[in-house]
Amino acid sequence: MTEHAVDERFDLTGRTAVVTGGGRGIGRAIALGLADAGADVVPTARTESDLEPVVAGVEERGGESALLTCDVADADDVDALFEAVEAELGPVDVLVNNAGINPANALGTPDRVDQDAWDLVTDVNLGGAFACARAAAPNLEETGGCVVNVASVGGLVGLPRQHPYVASKHGLVGLTKSMAIDWAPDVRVNCVAPGYVATDLTEDLTENEELRASIEERTPLDRFAEPEEVAAPVVFLASDAAAYVTGTTLAVDGGWTAR
Ligand SMILES: NC(=O)c1ccc[n+]([C@@H]2O[C@H](COP(=O)([O-])OP(=O)(O)OC[C@H]3O[C@@H](n4cnc5c(N)ncnc54)[C@H](OP(=O)(O)O)[C@@H]3O)[C@@H](O)[C@H]2O)c1
Repeated sequence: MTEHAVDERFDLTGRTAVVTGGGRGIGRAIALGLADAGADVVPTARTESDLEPVVAGVEERGGESALLTCDVADADDVDALFEAVEAELGPVDVLVNNAGINPANALGTPDRVDQDAWDLVTDVNLGGAFACARAAAPNLEETGGCVVNVASVGGLVGLPRQHPYVASKHGLVGLTKSMAIDWAPDVRVNCVAPGYVATDLTEDLTENEELRASIEERTPLDRFAEPEEVAAPVVFLASDAAAYVTGTTLAVDGGWTAR
């Protein structure tokens, strides 16, 4: 690597990024954070109306973007997405696998979670990430790019009554390691494991005062994270500042897993 100032290593000018689940919450913050660092960014999700302001936000920051919906649980949709991105913006340098769900019918003791709920959560959270990595592989190998997966503290420790979610997020942490080994030295693969972040996904928790207080008390930094506080470490992992980092999962959890 040529010598240059540390701050230049965070510069993503000329890179093309795809962020799944980029319409809301953490994914939206990641898409805009990558654009702040200079990247062209395609945020994708199923809901076009969520994507429109994010596409506009990327363009306002000087990046190129494209309005492309995708269901990451549908492998044909995923293949079509990456073909469209390559056609419109060129080969992908950065893939952020952020799309994730934890619906109410997937919560509870094992006897309460039916097969459909298990399939949906694992298909989106884990299968979707693998399908995107597979579809982006030729581009990533060509560009010497990188993947950042968004897991959860539920990928590092067990959480009661969240079996499909925890299994899928542990799977994502494992997938990060195996893909990093396979793809080295050409493509780096890393992961972040957020703690509790104030988004639509955690609305049930933030709106219930008692639950919110118990989570804050359990968190050494004593609060929920803002989505931008997850986006910044993702931008780091996507940049040359992390050129010697691969196969790792960075907890972004306010110290939650330090206890
Ligand atoms: N919030 C937290 O406290 C927290 C903590 C740890 C980890 N995480 C992880 O961080 C990621 C983002 O969470 P968030 O809190 O930002 O969630 P969110 O606000 O619910 O947003 C989820 C995003 O994923 C998209 N999505 C859902 N299913 C999809 C599918 N099948 N195909 C494509 N996109 C899909 C949603 O858009 P559509 O519905 O329009 O498709 C939306 O844009 C998830 O992987 C989550 O597990 C969150």
